[in-house]
Amino acid sequence: MELIKNLTEIYGPSGREEKIRSLIRAEIKKICKDTKVDALGNLIAYLPAKGKKNSKKLMFCAHMDEIGLIVKHIDNQGFIRFANVGGIFLEKILHHRVIFENGTIGVIGVESKPETPKPPQIDNYYIDIGARKLKEAEKMVKIGDIASFYQSTELTNNKIIAKALDDRIGCYCLIQAMRQIKKNSSELYFVFSAQEEVGLRGARTSAFGINPDYAIAVDVTGTGDTPESPRMAVGLGKGVAIKIMDSAFIAHPFIKEKLVSYAQRLKIPYQIEVLERGTTDAAVIQMTREGVLSGVISVPTRYIHSPNEVCDLSDVDSAIKLIVHSAEQGFE
Ligand code: CO
Ligand code: ZN
Repeated sequence: MELIKNLTEIYGPSGREEKIRSLIRAEIKKICKDTKVDALGNLIAYLPAKGKKNSKKLMFCAHMDEIGLIVKHIDNQGFIRFANVGGIFLEKILHHRVIFENGTIGVIGVESKPETPKPPQIDNYYIDIGARKLKEAEKMVKIGDIASFYQSTELTNNKIIAKALDDRIGCYCLIQAMRQIKKNSSELYFVFSAQEEVGLRGARTSAFGINPDYAIAVDVTGTGDTPESPRMAVGLGKGVAIKIMDSAFIAHPFIKEKLVSYAQRLKIPYQIEVLERGTTDAAVIQMTREGVLSGVISVPTRYIHSPNEVCDLSDVDSAIKLIVHSAEQGFE
């Protein structure tokens, strides 16, 4: 739980992954000697094949960036106007705390004039950092600085409540899996990708560089188990989700079937996922070069892209088991 807390509370919006990358790198240093950072900021760890070898390359990918708010204007009173970095849902952010890379904390407010549109648009929102005028604000925050949500991580009733479970929980799964893998016949690459939330950018370059035979993205997925939620046959605490399709990706049937058979062999609970809105790094990895056989292992999560995402620790455990087994067995 301490590692989950550290991974989710730390700052790291898209393009500003330095802190989260350093944290993950320090964490995996003991398990893996061969790590590198590429030009986009992806952290790539390599584990050679052990025991019976083949020449296949298997890539796992979880993104380390989170959504953010970028400063585009500061007014004379020191209030900050922002644009979105990734998918910000305005109805989910009002009066929440944000933090900048230098530690400056702010609260999100919204104009409340009668002529303010309903619902308010992004230009009607602002960040209040407690500055009294422009000069004071500029000492703390500059145009182009990016804030993330600022939120403590809690465990209650076996549920994790945190910002950025998307996709630090995927990063956590990969780190834990790397610790547990014993015999792997494939060469393994673990990519902690950058800039997923702004268009799957890190996954694109890392997959091109690695040129894998098989790829598995590990990310969160939505659920259909809250009041009046969209119809979806995935629920919290009902097991790891194995993706069939999302808005930009169709899992290769062979990989999907393998994942299902591995889950059955492990006797872990699993769910079949069809997600109508949203996608993962697998969408671009699959289309790298001549194409890559790809699948997705998902952690069911409520309130994705809000300051308080919620997932179930038992689903996280199932996901880790499935990743470890997939890494050891490969996909031949
Ligand atoms: Co996301
Ligand atoms: Zn994600």
